[in-house]
Amino acid sequence: IVRKPIIAGNWKMNKTLAEAEEFVQAVKNNIPANDVVDAVVGAPNIFTQKLVEWTEGTDLKVAAQNSYFEDEGAFTGETSPKALADLGTDYVIIGHSERRDIFGETDEEVNKKAHAVFNHKMLPIICVGESLDQREAGETNEWVSGQVKAALEGLTAEQVKELVLAYEPIWAIGTGKTATSEQANDTIKVIRETVQELYDEETAEAVRIQYGGSVKPDNIAELLDQSDIDGALVGGASLEADSFLKLLEAAD
Ligand code: G3H
Repeated sequence: IVRKPIIAGNWKMNKTLAEAEEFVQAVKNNIPANDVVDAVVGAPNIFTQKLVEWTEGTDLKVAAQNSYFEDEGAFTGETSPKALADLGTDYVIIGHSERRDIFGETDEEVNKKAHAVFNHKMLPIICVGESLDQREAGETNEWVSGQVKAALEGLTAEQVKELVLAYEPIWAIGTGKTATSEQANDTIKVIRETVQELYDEETAEAVRIQYGGSVKPDNIAELLDQSDIDGALVGGASLEADSFLKLLEAAD
């Protein structure tokens, strides 16, 4: 089975509207065709509507960085998945380690959010990953596989084939410390085995699993060469147009 690579930028809480527009204008007509690689930009949710507008008719897809699991109601400050879908959002990043660590998101919430995203016909990019302490204690596989099981609960095999998982070791995020490509591949294989256990071989072979954590233009090729790494979720190196285009070229 050939899985199409998916490169997603996660700008996190960066850029003004003018900076976001400058980026999109610089990249939107220069990205490889989407039958070769899926290119996604995860802008702060406040810019989602503009991103959708600016990228219309191009192969650049738009991700929100979070969504609540309820459609509407008394949830001050939250973003409705219904509203995101209405704007034309393609993907929603769910359960990023910063959401889990700083904002206390639980596995259960991540699961509810994944369902909500599907209910509105968008696709979740679901993040999992271990801390340095967990890696050093030899708990990585068990932890990550537990996160995957919790996140996917109640989703159908068809949904799992469509969604994206992102393995991001927390110790490699924004630290300049990339997991070696072998380390990343080994844990991603464990994730794929977990999907096989939960569903079947066909689903496990179809699901795309990204690596994230200090991915840069000069290390992405090696990561993508690995058997089970199907793309990257990129923070810092996705902020500049040149760098983002280089990441996409590596997957081309
Ligand atoms: O979502 C992206 C990751 O948190 C990785 O961030 O590429 O800046 O290490 P980074």
